[in-house]
Amino acid sequence: MSTLVIVGTQWGDEGKGKIVDLIADRVRAVVRFQGGNNAGHTLVVNGKKHIFHLIPSGILHENITCMIGNGVVIDPQVLLQEIERLRKEGVEVSPDRLKISRHAHVIMPYHKALDLAREEKKGKKKIGTTGRGIGPCYEDKAARVGIRIHDLLKEESFALRLEPVLAEKNFILQNFYNHPPLSFDKVFEEYVTYGKSLAAYVEDVSRLLEDMISRGDNVVFEGAQGTFLDIDHGTYPYVTSSNTLAGNVCCGVGLGPGSIHNVVGVVKAYTTRVGGGPFPTELHGELGEKIRDSGGEYGSTTGRPRRCGWLDITMLKKAKRLNGLNALVITKLDVLSGLPEVKIAVGYKVNGRAISDVPCELDLFEKCEPVYEVLPGWQEDIRQIRAFDSLPANTKRYLKTIEDMLGVPIWIVSVGPGRDETIVMRDIF
Ligand code: GDP
Ligand code: IMO
Ligand code: MG
Repeated sequence: MSTLVIVGTQWGDEGKGKIVDLIADRVRAVVRFQGGNNAGHTLVVNGKKHIFHLIPSGILHENITCMIGNGVVIDPQVLLQEIERLRKEGVEVSPDRLKISRHAHVIMPYHKALDLAREEKKGKKKIGTTGRGIGPCYEDKAARVGIRIHDLLKEESFALRLEPVLAEKNFILQNFYNHPPLSFDKVFEEYVTYGKSLAAYVEDVSRLLEDMISRGDNVVFEGAQGTFLDIDHGTYPYVTSSNTLAGNVCCGVGLGPGSIHNVVGVVKAYTTRVGGGPFPTELHGELGEKIRDSGGEYGSTTGRPRRCGWLDITMLKKAKRLNGLNALVITKLDVLSGLPEVKIAVGYKVNGRAISDVPCELDLFEKCEPVYEVLPGWQEDIRQIRAFDSLPANTKRYLKTIEDMLGVPIWIVSVGPGRDETIVMRDIF
């Protein structure tokens, strides 16, 4: 019996969704614990592409339960659309297969309006959010004025909670952002309807998980975003509004730390970032574009081009510490094929001074210039390879270098987007 957390070690889009889907045939449940539909997790199964924003990436496997924990912020419209889209594709998402925590917070229309208005007002200084209302929703959770899923199920108390908070949001929207007010009746009716549609899915996720884990079932917790988008430990303020680290599984689903057995960090073989913020190994010229093109590096949620750069070991060492990683998954290794050389940043320099950890201060991180170790590239297409030993010598050397520098064993190597385009190095369950 084992539980396993899958987290991103960089700035998101490491390929978490593919890995969750890949291992889901060995588990009883896949559970989201934070974030919302700012996430975009892409799976390619039998040549067909599926993108999930809220539904856990295990849903294509019939015999498992997918759960959305209390730490997730849910846009009910997006969730219902995702359920409907899957149904049209022949994947029945019945309440037996999807459980939503009654305590998850709901993304309301004013959260989306505020997210967009705020970014617009910031102009060049904007964070580059996904505009999905994530930040404002988590703000209301902390301010204790949030609407939770179970509130949508009780009309009277929902109205009592919505009325004062909507009045305040409308005041801010109108007077600070010059935005038209939202109608109470419209919002209320729309969200009561969503509540009715979702009622059958609402459950006590914490208790369901306790039962599964005590029965000895395997469970995967699916992270969204990445380590350096964590609200506390990421590149603040260029972060998302939740804790993305493995430790947040406990609070995000309602379990104690003893229930977490393995923490797996997904590492893209290079680095990408969407939105603003520092990125020391970013490649601005032709090479960055080449990687973006061959890696298909365009956001799965917003379609924005992702910024691309070399792998950064200093960041990964910090990700190891912050998450307590005991295994690695390396993805998108195929994208680096055909380069004369590959670089790994092993430290930074600021005005000639060596820096060996990711600094907390944003202005210092912005000034960090990477110090590279240069390795020979490989020219072979590796997408057909299914065993480590069959990889070109320079590819093996790249992987071994990462493993040795981090002191964490590699579990899986991904060499293409497809479920089968994978090399499994060892067993971790
Ligand atoms: P996530 O948010 O961490 O789940 O990652 P995304 O799905 O947003 O982005 C990863 C992208 O890379 C998706 O389009 C995947 O289909 C694709 N992908 C995943 N693994 C590989 C791989 O090993 N090679 C290639 N070429 N693409 C991959
Ligand atoms: P997955 O799960 C990459 C980024 C946004 C922005 C910042 C804040 O697919 O890896 P937000 O809307 O969360 O307030 O935006 O975080 N961001 C992501 N970048 N992958 C994601 O999710 C992301 N979710 C948020 O681009 O810079
Ligand atoms: Mg993504």
